[in-house]
Amino acid sequence: MKVIVASDHGGVNIRKEVTSLLEEMNIEFEDIGCDCEGSVDYPDYGIPAAERVANGEFDRAILICGTGIGMSISANKVKGVRCALVHDLFTAKVTREHNDSNVLAMGERVIGPGLAREIAKTWLSAEFEGGRHANRVSKITEYEA
Ligand code: RB5
Repeated sequence: MKVIVASDHGGVNIRKEVTSLLEEMNIEFEDIGCDCEGSVDYPDYGIPAAERVANGEFDRAILICGTGIGMSISANKVKGVRCALVHDLFTAKVTREHNDSNVLAMGERVIGPGLAREIAKTWLSAEFEGGRHANRVSKITEYEA
């Protein structure tokens, strides 16, 4: 699995937590920033990361901003991306099992680094169940086409 990671200025600490988790899990990743002291715009990071999942260069993306909302809205504009905004362990697992989400968004002003790490670990480890869920996901893909 290859993962691309990005944040705006509001998500730098959780982004570092996530990259340390990916190292621990021996998962290949690229961290595209931001390397920011000041304020940046979340679409400038979220959209390129989502595009690199949609084009097959990466299997998954993990995006962090202050709330996770800007990143999730941006990522979900990219065709082929199913971005889940997650702040608890239950939906981290179920969005993989039911939605086959390929992008995870989290908000650093919403949760702390410890929970973010567990959410990312859960999301990276859970598998899509297919079956009736594949039928539902295919309706989204058909709409996009
Ligand atoms: C930046 O101030 C903040 O708006 C951003 O990190 C995010 O929360 C947007 O959804």
